[in-house]
Amino acid sequence: MDYLSFVMLALHVLGAVALVGGAIMWRYGAVPGLQSVDEGIRSRVDSAIAAAWRPIAISAIGGLLITGIYNLMHRPVQTKTFHMLFGIKMLLALHVFAVAILAARPNNDRRGRQLTGIVISGVVIVVISAAFRWV
Ligand code: HEM
Repeated sequence: MDYLSFVMLALHVLGAVALVGGAIMWRYGAVPGLQSVDEGIRSRVDSAIAAAWRPIAISAIGGLLITGIYNLMHRPVQTKTFHMLFGIKMLLALHVFAVAILAARPNNDRRGRQLTGIVISGVVIVVISAAFRWV
């Protein structure tokens, strides 16, 4: 067994869980939950969540890039279908990375919309990545 490949894939999945799962929790847990408090408190707590999540999002992005490049270089089977799906995945991943950094800015009125975009692209990426095993 190639232990380094195993560790890299496990870290890759962990990064995906942190980034996409974090966005799902924020968009469908924290955002609606904060609707029940007053406007002033809501925007303060919302910015505090953003500040706390930012280093996690940046670490997950860095980890996904490093482990993803490693996974790509050590993948034995590289078919045309894999390259096509991988290209689509990279475009969506760039969207997720850029919007995750924007969404984690404080005092952000467009956060809900940005998080929805991350969730949609993130779910499509996970579905594409699950298909990698068969292409
Ligand atoms: C939001 C960003 C990303 C998410 C959510 C994500 C998610 C995933 C998931 C869930 C898998 C499947 C693991 C498995 O069970 O086999 C995977 C595999 C893979 N990912 Fe990513 N990924 C992301 C970004 C990247 C990036 C930036 C790269 C490359 C630079 C990359 C390269 C790969 C490769 C090559 C595999 C296939 C590994 C293999 O089958 O040998 N990913 N990814």
